[in-house]
Amino acid sequence: MGTCHIQALMFYFLLGASSLTLAQHLECFKSISTSIEENPSSTFNWTAEEVETCDDGSFCQETVLMIKAGAETAVLATKGCVSEGEEAMTFIQHTAPPGLITVSYSGYCEDSFCNNKDGVYHFWQLQRTPASGVSATLRCPTCVALGSCFSAPSLPCPNGTTRCYQGKLDITGGGINSSVEVKGCTSMVGCRLMARIFTVGPILVKEVCPRQSLTEPRMAEDGATWIPISVWGLELLLPLLLQSFVLLS
Ligand SMILES: *[C@@H]1O[C@H](CO)[C@@H](O)[C@H](O)[C@H]1NC(C)=O
Ligand SMILES: *[C@@H]1O[C@H](CO)[C@@H](O)[C@H](O)[C@H]1NC(C)=O
Ligand SMILES: *[C@@H]1O[C@H](CO)[C@@H](O)[C@H](O)[C@H]1NC(C)=O
Repeated sequence: MGTCHIQALMFYFLLGASSLTLAQHLECFKSISTSIEENPSSTFNWTAEEVETCDDGSFCQETVLMIKAGAETAVLATKGCVSEGEEAMTFIQHTAPPGLITVSYSGYCEDSFCNNKDGVYHFWQLQRTPASGVSATLRCPTCVALGSCFSAPSLPCPNGTTRCYQGKLDITGGGINSSVEVKGCTSMVGCRLMARIFTVGPILVKEVCPRQSLTEPRMAEDGATWIPISVWGLELLLPLLLQSFVLLS
């Protein structure tokens, strides 16, 4: 009876040990993409087919930075292993409408294949702004492009915008190494498309503007919002988020 018990214990111990060994080999979806989209919430397919095996102590991550100017949106997205951080979801609205919109999302999680979002509609839907008419006076060169803008037509600005922005974002990390040129109408002041939040998950952003747009007078504070969200809460919080965006705008 005694030996039997010990054998059973040993068996469990071995099982436990082997499942621990398995758990150390975290596997994550892997993908890198940079694109310009007209309607990212319906056209951007974030489903990854490649898989990556991580080092011990890593997390899976999925991170996207989206910049909208006029009718087009630059989408820079990465999924894969990340060796540092903590389990969290972070949604940041760096630049709020009207005009240019910059938003980032980053999710870090601990289970294999947990970085499995299939699109960006969870948070990009929030960016649908009601049609609010155009300003009678202000027009700005408007474009967003990977690399440099091929052309930047001067478009009428939405009501509520006060100035023209132009700048360049150098985006590195998570396998991405791209630069994005942005021009458009905004009420944000200075070289602050990122609202000085330059780290987005594993991505690092450097924002550079021509001297001219830096010397404009300072007016109101920008409307950046930073909302850290617990791992389980995103779906539950969406109505709340939606409310806070309605309040903001
Ligand atoms: C997204 O891509 C995956 C694989 O590439 C495919 O299986 C899936 O059907 C696509 N989803 C949509 C909504 O197109
Ligand atoms: C937009 O601004 C113009 C000019 O200031 C004004 O006539 C128009 O009513 C505004 N539209 C909206 C929807 O606020
Ligand atoms: C990114 O690309 C630029 C030019 O294409 C290159 O000079 C730079 O070393 C690259 N950076 C990284 C981190 O790969």
